[in-house]
Amino acid sequence: MDHFHYQNGQLMAEDVPLSRIAAEVGTPVYVYSRATLERHYRVFSDAFEGLDALVCFAVKANSNIAVLRILAKAGAGADVVSLGELQRALKAGIPASKIAFAGVGKTRAEMAAALEAGIMQFNAESEAELEVLNEVAASMGKVAPISIRVNPDVDAKTHAKISTGKSENKFGIAWQKVDDVYARIGELSNLKAVGVDLHIGSQLTDLEPFRLAFERVVGLVRELRAKGHDIRHIDLGGGLGIPYDPDAEAPPAPADYGAMIKDVLGDMDCSIILEPGRLIAGNAGLLLTEMLYEKQGENRTFYILDAAMNDLSRPAMYDAYHAIVPVEEPKSGDTLRADFVGPICESSDVFTKQRITAPLKAGDLVAIKSAGAYGAVMASTYNSRPLVPEVLVDGDRYSVVRKRQSLEDLLSLDDVPSWLSDD
Ligand code: LLP
Repeated sequence: MDHFHYQNGQLMAEDVPLSRIAAEVGTPVYVYSRATLERHYRVFSDAFEGLDALVCFAVKANSNIAVLRILAKAGAGADVVSLGELQRALKAGIPASKIAFAGVGKTRAEMAAALEAGIMQFNAESEAELEVLNEVAASMGKVAPISIRVNPDVDAKTHAKISTGKSENKFGIAWQKVDDVYARIGELSNLKAVGVDLHIGSQLTDLEPFRLAFERVVGLVRELRAKGHDIRHIDLGGGLGIPYDPDAEAPPAPADYGAMIKDVLGDMDCSIILEPGRLIAGNAGLLLTEMLYEKQGENRTFYILDAAMNDLSRPAMYDAYHAIVPVEEPKSGDTLRADFVGPICESSDVFTKQRITAPLKAGDLVAIKSAGAYGAVMASTYNSRPLVPEVLVDGDRYSVVRKRQSLEDLLSLDDVPSWLSDD
């Protein structure tokens, strides 16, 4: 459930009309709802009541510091994958003791910063990384807490580009090698194994792949403990799907996911870490855009928006579905089919094709929904389009929590070397 709804014929973000935000901040603009973020966090964390569980928000889904601040206040930890994300999480007030650092390509500088901050654990993904981390930790006189990301070789049955738990994916350490890797950690004096970690993919709409992978991990933890490793944390990753199209999809409720986890891991006597991203932020945000032009093709209608694939890349990258709704509630039940497209010079700059929609006209505002996760964070400046702003709504007030990049900002990063100037 989210807090975007029609009231008096106007689409609102909580108590703020989106038309007001468009008039005052301009379009395109991402709009987030604080109440929705808090609600999703609560519903998710409530599903683990009775377990020793820590919800570490996957910062890659939405790294706006104001968004992270809301989650920090609600008690969340963070799953980070870069120095930038680590700094954002710390700046938002998420304690280092609740931060897990993941990723297949951590640099020495990232390792050092995370050790300095005193994070909860490194989710390590290769033997080579462990050797380097041991060196970095030794040079700082520290011991790095390690959780090994295992690759359970389970088919997550989601889009191939967001599936991570199959043996052909680059993530995690192959099942057959895990034993040797923990043995090696035992030999390295500046590493300490504290956990096991996995993440099999994103936008899963079925609990079975999760159950299968979690059962495998339980077996592994039992074996490791029998060999004397003190495994205290099991990090189950993120990946629970959300309804992008409520008429077509019914992903499992967090409560059912939680019940399954209690069933599989309830008696493991360890803390459970969860890394949801999309589930918390996805439906807590939308991309507000204005329709610039209507264009009649030979046999189709194009609605050309001022937002493009550089602002929200999911449809172009994954053929992802996003609901698109007019900000002014349609008065009649008239519909037609239209392609909603952006202004970028690429055929893939299409948000949707042949979508049934109320008729729209140039100047109308449109909301592209479910854009709070993997929206702004994946934006680029392709076609020299500046990054769009982000707005956070809280009841009847709102603030710009990331300002619109100016063209000056964008152009100022380039430099023309003196040897190119005309003499
Ligand atoms: N933990 C790890 C280690 C991850 O790699 C991810 C996502 C998550 C947690 C959070 O997954 P979530 O709960 O949000 O599904 N850009 C793609 C999604 C890529 C997900 C990458 N990893 C999209 O727009 O669908």
